[in-house]
Amino acid sequence: MSRDSRRIRGRSQRRGTDDSPLAGPSSRQPGEASGPVLRAVGLSRAYGQDESLVRAVDGVDLDVPAGQALAVTGPSGCGKSTLLQLLGGLDRPTDGEVWLGGRRMDHLGERALARLRRRAIGFVFQSFHLMDELTAAENVELPALLAGASPRTARNRAAGLLDRVGLADRARHLPSELSGGQRQRVAIARALVNEPLVVLADEPTGNLDSAATHDILRLFDELRAAGQTLVMVTHDERVAATADRVVSLRDGTLADDTRLDGGGTTRLGSLLNWEG
Ligand SMILES: Nc1ncnc2c1ncn2[C@@H]1O[C@H](COP(=O)(O)OP(=O)(O)O)[C@@H](O)[C@H]1O
Ligand SMILES: [Mg+2]
Repeated sequence: MSRDSRRIRGRSQRRGTDDSPLAGPSSRQPGEASGPVLRAVGLSRAYGQDESLVRAVDGVDLDVPAGQALAVTGPSGCGKSTLLQLLGGLDRPTDGEVWLGGRRMDHLGERALARLRRRAIGFVFQSFHLMDELTAAENVELPALLAGASPRTARNRAAGLLDRVGLADRARHLPSELSGGQRQRVAIARALVNEPLVVLADEPTGNLDSAATHDILRLFDELRAAGQTLVMVTHDERVAATADRVVSLRDGTLADDTRLDGGGTTRLGSLLNWEG
C-alpha cells in the first residue's frame, strides 16, 4: 500500500491513546456534554457605518457537532474569513453569540479569550503564518509552551506531530527552507499541538499547487478519521467536496447547508483524478 493509505487510520485505533498526537478531543474528555463543539447564534459582524456599512456576516446560526468536517464555501467577499475569525475568537461580533465546547466565548475578556484560543482552537491560514526565524519544530512547540507545557513535553509533542505530517526529517529546517506544502504541514502540526477542540482553516490550500493540495487534504482527512472537529473555509468546490457537510455563504448569510454522504477518503480518491 502507499505511504498515504498507511497513514490513514480509523477512529477506533486512535481514541483513548493519550499520547497520540492526532487524537481527537473526545478521547480525552469522557464526561463532556454532548452539544455541538461550536455554535453560532445570530452571529453578525458589520464594518463601517451609514453608507459605508458592510454586513460581512449577517445573522448566521450554525452548529458544528463533534467530529464533523465542515466546509464553508462561497464567492470572494461573501464573509467566509470574517465568519471563521468570529468562530475562532480572533474577531468580535457586532451581534450574536459564539459558543465553544458549551462555553460562551464572545463575552470573554481579552485574556480569557486568548487563553481559550490557545488551548482549544487550532488555526491554519492560507499563508501559513509561521515564525520565519524559528525552525519547524520550534514553530510547533511554541503554542504548547505558551499554554504551559514543559519544554520537554512541547518537544516531544512537536516531534510526534512532525512525524505524523511526514516532516520528521525537516524538524530543524527554517520555513524558508521548506516548500509551501511543507510549510502548511508544519502549520497543521502547530494547530494540533494543544489538542484543540476544533481546527479552523482559512483557504488552507489556497497558496498550494495541486500535488501539495492533495497532501494537505489527505492530512485533513486523517484528522477527521481521528475524530477531530474541523471547519475549513474554501472557495474551491472540489476542496469543499471532501468535507462531511458544506455550508455556502452569500452576502454574509447562510444560503445552503448540505450533508455529504460517504467518507472523505472515498471522495479524495476522485480528487486524485483532477488532472486526468
Ligand atoms: N477589516 C475590514 N474592514 C472593512 N470591511 C471588511 C473588513 N474585512 C472584511 N471586510 C468586508 O467584509 C466582506 C467579507 O469579507 P471576507 O470575510 O474577507 O470575505 P471572504 O473571506 O469570503 O472573501 C467583504 O465585503 C469585505 O470587503
Ligand atoms: Mg477570505
